[in-house]
Amino acid sequence: MSQPILFQPITLRGVSSKNRILISPMCQYSAIDGVANDWHLVHLGKFAQGGAGLVMVEAAAVTAEGRITHGDVGIWNDGQIAPLKRIAAFLKENGAVPSIQLAHAGRKASMQRPWYGNAALDDADRARGDLPWRTVAPSAVPMDEGWLMPHALELAELADLRQQWRRATLRAVDAGFEFLEVHCAHGYLLHEFLSPLSNRRSDAYGGDRDGRMRYPLEIIETVRAVWPAERPLSVRISSVDGVEGGLLLDDQIAFAREAKARGADLIDCSSGGLLGSATAARIPRGYGFQVPYAAEIRTSAEIATIAVGLILHPQQAEDVLTNGQADLIAIGREALFDPNWPLHAELALRAEGGEVFTSWPKQYGWWLERREPGLRKLDGPPLPFRKI
Ligand SMILES: Cc1cc2nc3c(=O)[nH]c(=O)nc-3n(C[C@H](O)[C@H](O)[C@H](O)COP(=O)(O)O)c2cc1C
Repeated sequence: MSQPILFQPITLRGVSSKNRILISPMCQYSAIDGVANDWHLVHLGKFAQGGAGLVMVEAAAVTAEGRITHGDVGIWNDGQIAPLKRIAAFLKENGAVPSIQLAHAGRKASMQRPWYGNAALDDADRARGDLPWRTVAPSAVPMDEGWLMPHALELAELADLRQQWRRATLRAVDAGFEFLEVHCAHGYLLHEFLSPLSNRRSDAYGGDRDGRMRYPLEIIETVRAVWPAERPLSVRISSVDGVEGGLLLDDQIAFAREAKARGADLIDCSSGGLLGSATAARIPRGYGFQVPYAAEIRTSAEIATIAVGLILHPQQAEDVLTNGQADLIAIGREALFDPNWPLHAELALRAEGGEVFTSWPKQYGWWLERREPGLRKLDGPPLPFRKI
């Protein structure tokens, strides 16, 4: 039996991943002054030990103002590079492509950490020392009632912000990352430019679809110009807004085409988030609910895609690849549930016979391989995750 596609290597530009599994970026809200720490190292390191081909650092803010919360990881100053470098080195040493997402939260900045309420910062947060800060957006349109009125970015500020993205990208290079993603999804700044609901500008950066795409595309160009040619660039989008009058899949297919023309290699196909929290469900959620977007964008924009969202079962992931719906599978919360998801998925999908634990870190695999024959002789309930 041939190797499942999920576990076949893939090469993107000059970077090879041992399999098609990407651990999706997941904010931990646990940094101080944007500086990553041991929590992030262990959180991400587990996924490399767990067999993922690519492990992506959460949304790293390109400016302090662009953080979602006080706990976000940042990449807006050189002092933030060293702990990221340590993480990238650990990921690489343990077989994963070190990856990072760059982001600006726009009008969804100055938020509470999820466990403090997931809304705009309030008096309880002030009492903890978490003061609100000025938010920025394409237009002075707040996300919802009770949210800060954002400052509409002026042309000179847009130019300055392009430079911040450029510098952040150079820091990501310095830190040793090999796969970079520009966050254009979930209602954050670049998505706010794309959507007619949040972008009411009347200058060149607003109006029709071309105008609304202009700034995100300039950012992609700016990043690509300094991101090494042999390293892949992904763009995460909200494939649809899922809100009356918002972005439709056709809009995002057009954006994907333009992103590709500017050097993006993959589109990471998420959805929603323009109104309410990034995780607020406005699109009905079933297993693999965003896979059809990845499939449609892959075909229509002729660009590689990442499928994400409630992909839980190994065979489900394999089917997405076999059906040609996406090129990579991103696993988010299921990796929190089981950081060894890729290793377990391989056991579940593997052909019968032979050594079982060859993909595992030798520190674990050596022992597990030797335990296995004895385990198979024992009476008792079936062993989890194994097909032997
Ligand atoms: C704790 C947490 C933090 C997240 N942070 C980010 C993030 O930094 N950037 C991003 O694009 N998406 C973020 N997401 C969304 C995930 O990357 C992923 O798209 C989403 O959870 C759906 O995939 P899943 O069903 O496999 O979890 C986050 C999700 C969770 C649960």
